[in-house]
Amino acid sequence: EQAVQTSPRADVGVFGGSGFYALADGAETWEADTPWGPPSAPVTIADVGGVRVAFLPRHGVDHRYPPHRVNYRANVDAMRSLGVRALVSPFAAGSLRPEIRPGEFVVCDQLVDRTWGRPSTFYDAFDDGPVHVPFAEPYDPRLRRVLLDAAAETGVTAHDGGTVVVVNGPRFSTRAESRWHRESGWHVVNMTQSPEAPLAMEAGIPFAGIALVTDYDAGLDEDPDVPPVTDAAVFAVFEANLHKVRELLHAAVPRLAQVTGPAGT
Ligand code: ADE
Repeated sequence: EQAVQTSPRADVGVFGGSGFYALADGAETWEADTPWGPPSAPVTIADVGGVRVAFLPRHGVDHRYPPHRVNYRANVDAMRSLGVRALVSPFAAGSLRPEIRPGEFVVCDQLVDRTWGRPSTFYDAFDDGPVHVPFAEPYDPRLRRVLLDAAAETGVTAHDGGTVVVVNGPRFSTRAESRWHRESGWHVVNMTQSPEAPLAMEAGIPFAGIALVTDYDAGLDEDPDVPPVTDAAVFAVFEANLHKVRELLHAAVPRLAQVTGPAGT
């Protein structure tokens, strides 16, 4: 009785973030459905230099889904159905350190998950035995290298490595929370990298998150004139730097398509 659903194919997947709702023109659209329901938006598939790139804005086309209500399982599952071999996740982030400035990128190598109450696994039942995915390295080193090289080529500043702490939101952090995150040794703060990253790992898709720094979170102890983050600031800075995200991704895509083998290999 079940309708047979055939999905198109793609080589590389890209999630869009706050202020990033399309990657390339002339795209084909796929209205995906998954066992977890529909993803945040139709997936658009475009040809970028001979590589098929699937793009999905995680908050929906009109940013209708707050971070704790994004259907991350459907989003990642749609990418899995497309057969993508690499999945890149650009995201807006607050910086916890003066040397990581708005307009710069961080190609993260670690993640701390402070979210709660989100469906964050494909394994709500261990029907075929226990599955606890290794997650010591949440970000694929091969994809990280490609992103760093692409950043160098396009002349955008990208920090090599850094820990993103993922807060639940949708509110921003208090000064005390922000100070705590910084003193814990973490670098940037965001609201969506978890469960996106762990779900990609469960799906076996090599995954890399790249932070576009939009603000200094609750402010900077070094400079009392730096105001705490607002939505307006996040969107304005993301918008002003969106061309860097596009250039970087266009440079990275051909090499992302060369990555072979599942996550953790
Ligand atoms: N996204 C962009 N800036 C952020 C911040 N300061 N905290 C959490 N998520 C963010």
